Amino acid sequence: MTAAIDTDPPRTARNVRLYRSIPALLRDPMGEVEKIGRFAGELVRVDFGIFKAYVATHPDDVQHILRDDSANFLRNGTAWRPLRRLFGDSILGEGPDWELSRKALQPLLTTRHVHSVAGRMAEAVNDAIEPLTGPARDGSSVKATPEMARIVNRTVLSVFFGGKISAADNDRLAPAFDQVAKAVAFRFLLPFLPESVPVPGDRAFREAVQRIDDVLMPLIHKQRRTDDASPDFFSALCQARTADGGEVSDRWIRDNLVAMFATSTETTVGALTWLWPLLDAHPQVAARLYDEIDRVVGRGPVQAEHLSDLTYTRQVLQEVLRLYPVGWLFPRTAVAPARLGGVRINAGDTVLLSPFLTHRLERFWDRPRSFDPDRFATDRTADGGRRHRYAYFPFGGGPHQCIGMHAFTTEAELVVAGVLSRFRPVSCSAVPVTPRIGPTLRPRRDVDLTLRLL
Ligand code: HEM
Repeated sequence: MTAAIDTDPPRTARNVRLYRSIPALLRDPMGEVEKIGRFAGELVRVDFGIFKAYVATHPDDVQHILRDDSANFLRNGTAWRPLRRLFGDSILGEGPDWELSRKALQPLLTTRHVHSVAGRMAEAVNDAIEPLTGPARDGSSVKATPEMARIVNRTVLSVFFGGKISAADNDRLAPAFDQVAKAVAFRFLLPFLPESVPVPGDRAFREAVQRIDDVLMPLIHKQRRTDDASPDFFSALCQARTADGGEVSDRWIRDNLVAMFATSTETTVGALTWLWPLLDAHPQVAARLYDEIDRVVGRGPVQAEHLSDLTYTRQVLQEVLRLYPVGWLFPRTAVAPARLGGVRINAGDTVLLSPFLTHRLERFWDRPRSFDPDRFATDRTADGGRRHRYAYFPFGGGPHQCIGMHAFTTEAELVVAGVLSRFRPVSCSAVPVTPRIGPTLRPRRDVDLTLRLL
């Protein structure tokens, strides 16, 4: 890497010039990102030549942007462009479309609602785990990502999408979403490139979006012809009314369904993929986790009633999301001039937030690179102080805080406890050193997992 670093006087941002090293950025993006993290807690200005952005890692700055001054740091502008091409004007946007979307979807993801569907989630998880028996009996390995995706998709589609996306539709949708996630990587890294400049992945992106629309649009038309008011994303979106009581557009429904499919599957699958290599590398953590599941769930099947006793399982998942927060980078654009840690931010400037970097700051975390779920046994830090609310923000914060947090926690705990009540991992690929660059953090290489039947 050739990033040149200017030693600036106090109250200005550190400058990291990335334009000299775009090839390096494309080759080892996380390596480059971690170099920015060396300036622990300071505001860093990354300079791509024609495009500059700030990276804010200090929890005070994160809180300011996401919560205290959220009206001035919006989720639009250059850096958001690659994702807008997919999600349009939906719950992942801003303004009235976002408000309307949040109003329609949030009631289906409250703690109370998720609690009420946890039994159905457990059933779906147990059914989806069953096919792991064959490979576990033969001692053959499985690829962790597609297996976790199969289990998560089946559960999410049955519980949150009301079974309205059939298995055959899912077989077309899931690979298309995977293709989108890979195809958007280049634009995600270099969002300032105009759309008129073709980049690798553009064609694959367009094709995948077309395949997604080919599946979703007919389902939307069918749903709109009914007055079905079941508690699922399809019905909630089709029944929604605009602020003045008018009909919502097919496009708005489509944008939101795409957003919900992507956020409810891709993120959970990412977290559950990182878990297995981390357990393999930390046998003491794994042993405590197995003990808890043996004690609470026994030989399965896992049930909703087990959830409240799966304390250590929850801590393990929290720690996975600290080291590998699947939503690892999200941008904001300043509407009006602002100050962050004494540095002036101009209207129109892009500020990038990265839980990946903040979660690894030595100033806020004791031994930040160690995988230690016990740090979540309390909200105190090693020296007895209270942890800064924004030292840990895998689910964001403020008005755009993730609405899927409870769904994730419930589903992920059920999957971990469901798998480990039936099987024990025998071997797994090493913790992948290089994550794949893209909207979510995933290992670049396949994770091979071998399970043994209990
Ligand atoms: C490991 C699991 C997950 C992680 C790490 C995660 C992370 C995040 C983050 C960081 C944001 C904030 C984005 C921003 O501020 O720009 C967010 C928003 C969101 N998440 Fe999640 N998420 C996860 C699971 C889920 C699930 C399971 C669902 C749905 C069932 C979901 C639905 C959403 C939605 C709809 C938003 C946008 C909320 C809004 O802007 O009003 N997420 N998520």
